[in-house]
Amino acid sequence: MCGIVGYAGNRNGADIVLAGLRALEYRGYDSAGLVTFTSQKTIEAVKRKGNVDELEKAIKKRKLIGATTLGHTRWATHGEPSETNAHPHTDAAGRVFVVHNGIIENHKELRAYLEARGHVFVSETDTECVAHLIAEFISRGADFESALFSALAKIEGSYAFAIIDRENPDTIYAARLSSPLVIGVGEHENFLASDPSALIESTKRVIYLKDREVATITKSKITTTDLNRRLTPMNIEELEWDLEAAQKGNFPHFMLKEIFEGPEVVRTAMRGRLKKNVLKLGGLDLVRDKLDSMRRLVILACGTSYYAGLVGEYIFEEIAGIPTEVHFASEFRYRNEPFEPGTVALAISQSGETADTLAALKKAKEAKLLTLGLVNVVGSSIARETDAGIYNHAGPEVGVASTKAFLSQLTVLTMMALSLARKKQKINRELMDELQRIPEKIEAVLKQAEAMKRLAAKYSAYENFLFLGRRYNYPVALEGALKLKEISYLHAEGYGAGEMKHGPLAMISPEFPTIAVVPKNSVSEKMYSNIEEIRARKGPVLAIASEGDKKIASIADDVFYIPKTLEPLEPLLAVIPLQLFAYYIGTALGYNVDRPRNLAKSVTVE
Ligand code: M6R
Repeated sequence: MCGIVGYAGNRNGADIVLAGLRALEYRGYDSAGLVTFTSQKTIEAVKRKGNVDELEKAIKKRKLIGATTLGHTRWATHGEPSETNAHPHTDAAGRVFVVHNGIIENHKELRAYLEARGHVFVSETDTECVAHLIAEFISRGADFESALFSALAKIEGSYAFAIIDRENPDTIYAARLSSPLVIGVGEHENFLASDPSALIESTKRVIYLKDREVATITKSKITTTDLNRRLTPMNIEELEWDLEAAQKGNFPHFMLKEIFEGPEVVRTAMRGRLKKNVLKLGGLDLVRDKLDSMRRLVILACGTSYYAGLVGEYIFEEIAGIPTEVHFASEFRYRNEPFEPGTVALAISQSGETADTLAALKKAKEAKLLTLGLVNVVGSSIARETDAGIYNHAGPEVGVASTKAFLSQLTVLTMMALSLARKKQKINRELMDELQRIPEKIEAVLKQAEAMKRLAAKYSAYENFLFLGRRYNYPVALEGALKLKEISYLHAEGYGAGEMKHGPLAMISPEFPTIAVVPKNSVSEKMYSNIEEIRARKGPVLAIASEGDKKIASIADDVFYIPKTLEPLEPLLAVIPLQLFAYYIGTALGYNVDRPRNLAKSVTVE
C-alpha cells in the first residue's frame, strides 16, 4: 500500500524522508519517489522503480540536499509499477508536485476534461490529474491555495494528498478523505506521514488530520481548515508506540489487523465500481464481447483463493447463469481435458505469483482460452499474463494466512457475476444493494471478537476439529479448517455437511468438536439434522448462526451469531468468526501466527 512522508524544517529533508519511507516498507510497494527544494531554491524530483535503496542511490548520485521535501512509496493501482507512474506527479510547467494515497474515482472524466484543455499527461495514474487540475485553476488566475481548494471540490474518491508548490518553497499542503494522514509536531520543524510509524524516529507529538480537512505545514506553523477554508481545531496527541507496534497499529499481529481491515477491503473493492445500482467493471470492458458469448468458466487457484473460487462457482451459476467449474491450479495443469469453444479461464491469486496458478494459466493460454485475472498485487506475473482482469486493491497482506484477500475476492467475484448475469432477476438487484451493506455487517461481527476469543480459549483444549457447511458455506467450512491448520498446527477437516455420514461421522466423539457454519438459509434445516447427528454421538458443537435463530441454541453447545444477509453473501460474514477462531487458538497456543512454520506468503515453487 502506498506511503507518504513529508518534512518542513532546516535539516536535510531527503535524509529524513528516506528514513520515514523505510519505516513504511513493511506495507509493500513497487516504486518510490521524492521531491525537494534545493538550497538554490530550485525544485527537484527523483523517482525509481524498485525499493527505497534504489531511490537513495539516485539521490546520493545527484548530491541532492534540500529542506522542504515530500516522499512516496507506491503500490500500483492505476498503471503498472514503473518510474513514470511513481509519485510525485507534476503539471507540464513543473510547478505543482503531488503524492497521493487512495483512488480518484472520477479520474477518467477529469483527465478527458484536462486533455481537452491542452494538458499533456505522461503517466497512466489517477494521481497525475490532480497536479494538472491545480495548474488549470492557476492558469485561470487563481492563487495556489484557491486553486488547491477548487481542485479538491472536483475530486471524487478517497485521498491522502501531500502537495508542494514551486512558488511556496517552505510549505507542504495536505488533504485527506478516507485515507489516513498524520502531522508530526517538532521543534522548529514539522512532519507529515500516512502512518505514524514513519514519524516515530522524529517525534511522538502528532495531529491526526480528519476527513475533509486541509493542512498547511511549515517549519514553524501548522494550520488546518475545512474544505470551505474555515479554521478547524487541532488536537495534539502523544504516540506511545514503538516502531513494530506502530506498523501494526494497535494490533498485536498483522493477521488480526488484516482481519479487522475486512470492512475497508470490501468497500475498496467496490469503490469506483459499484454505487447504488450502477455497476462498472472497467477491467472487463476490453473483452466484454467475448464474455457475453462465454459458455463455460473455469476458475484456477490454490489455497484460500481456491476456496473463494468455490464460492464463485455457486455465484456464477446461480446469479450469472454461467456453467462454472473450479480447479486446484496444481491439478489442472496436469489434466488433459478437452475445452469446448467459448470457455474462459479465471485465475484467482492474492500474490499474483503462485507458481501453480501461473502454470495453469499458461496452459489455458496455450489452449487459446480467453484468460482473466482476479489479483491483488498490481503488475504481478499473473496480472501481466492474463488478457483482462480486476484488481482487488486490498493493500498488501503481510500475514501468511490469507484473510482480508478472501473477503476482497468474494466481493469482486460477486460483482463479476452480477456484471455478466445473463438474465435480469430480482435477486441481482437485491444483491447489489445488500453487498453495499456488507461492510457495516462485518463491523458488527468484528465487535464480537472478544466473545470469539473466549470460545477459542475453551476449544483450544481440543486437538481435532471438523468444519461443516452446505452450499455457499461449504467452501467457508473448508477455509475455516485451512485457517486453523495453518495457524495452530491442529488437525482440522472441512466437509460438506451432507458428506458427513459417508465417513467423517466415525471420528465424532466427546473429544472431537465440530464447527458448524449454519446461517438461516435454504439449507439450514438440513444442517440442523447434521448437528443432531453429531450431538447424538456426544460431539461438541460450536455453531456460526444467524441472529434471531431460536432453534440453534437448543442443539449446539455454543453459538456465535452473525447478522442475516442474502445467501450468496453469507460467506463474507461467516468466514470472519472462523478467521478469529484460528487466530485466537493460534495465539493461545503461543504460535507465531503471522509466520506459521513451513509456509511462505508467496508460493513461487511448484
Ligand atoms: O497468492 P495466492 O492467492 O495465489 O496464494 C494461494 C495460496 O498459497 C494461499 O491462499 C495459501 O493457501 C494461504 N496461506 C492461505 O491462508
